[in-house]
Amino acid sequence: MGLLEFKELTKEYRRGGRAFNAVNRVSLSVEPGDFISIIGRSGSGKTTLLNMGAGLLKPTGGAVLFEGHDIHRLKDKEISFLRNEKIGYVPQGQSLLSNFTVLDNVCIPWFLFKREGDVEGRAFILLEKVGIGHLAASYPKELSGGEMRRASIARSLINRPRILIADEPTGDLDAETTAEIMRLFSRIAEEGTAVLIVTHELDTLEYGNKTYLMDAGNLSPHAA
Ligand SMILES: Nc1ncnc2c1ncn2[C@@H]1O[C@H](COP(=O)(O)OP(=O)(O)OP(=O)(O)O)[C@@H](O)[C@H]1O
Ligand SMILES: [Mg+2]
Repeated sequence: MGLLEFKELTKEYRRGGRAFNAVNRVSLSVEPGDFISIIGRSGSGKTTLLNMGAGLLKPTGGAVLFEGHDIHRLKDKEISFLRNEKIGYVPQGQSLLSNFTVLDNVCIPWFLFKREGDVEGRAFILLEKVGIGHLAASYPKELSGGEMRRASIARSLINRPRILIADEPTGDLDAETTAEIMRLFSRIAEEGTAVLIVTHELDTLEYGNKTYLMDAGNLSPHAA
């Protein structure tokens, strides 16, 4: 049994009276410690696939199993708790809350459900880990795109998820910072957390143990 499994996962959309599968019967198994990269052209269905995998978007066909359970059959509350507790998600684009400091943004997932412990200390360590400890007291609007991205990676790790799902986490980073983030993801995977990311082909060359190509909704293994 995989940690996260896609079984013939499908999302049909309609546009201009025509139906098409943005994601077409995709099957994939993610195990603890895996570092999986998905590459593919704009519009090929990568974000749609990750959103279904993270429980944020309902499939029109197939299933997403997390630890053997079909997550889209869970009640809303159960799925929220599972996502909060076990899935770290870094969405494509900016997703920090503007009225909160960087440190508070990182802590938010911790406070969504009742928990105890020194969350601020842990949040600070995570910010240091992604290289922006000095920005803990700043507000999102004072950060660059890459700094915001790093803050949202720190936020995704605050509850010690079983899997980290990230949609183009290095999209607006320079080569050096990209390498740092990819090394961080490698380390996270080595520590036993599964990592599933959408990224660019170049970034997969040195990092990640498996690469897949998304093409018009279809996923296939990609040879380096
Ligand atoms: N809500 C929607 N209704 C109709 N079509 C949609 C909807 N959301 C996405 N699509 C279409 O589904 C396809 C896949 O979109 P998706 O965002 O998954 O692509 P992507 O591979 O992540 O692209 P990018 O690299 O630009 O982020 C695209 O053709 C998009 O226009
Ligand atoms: Mg996308």
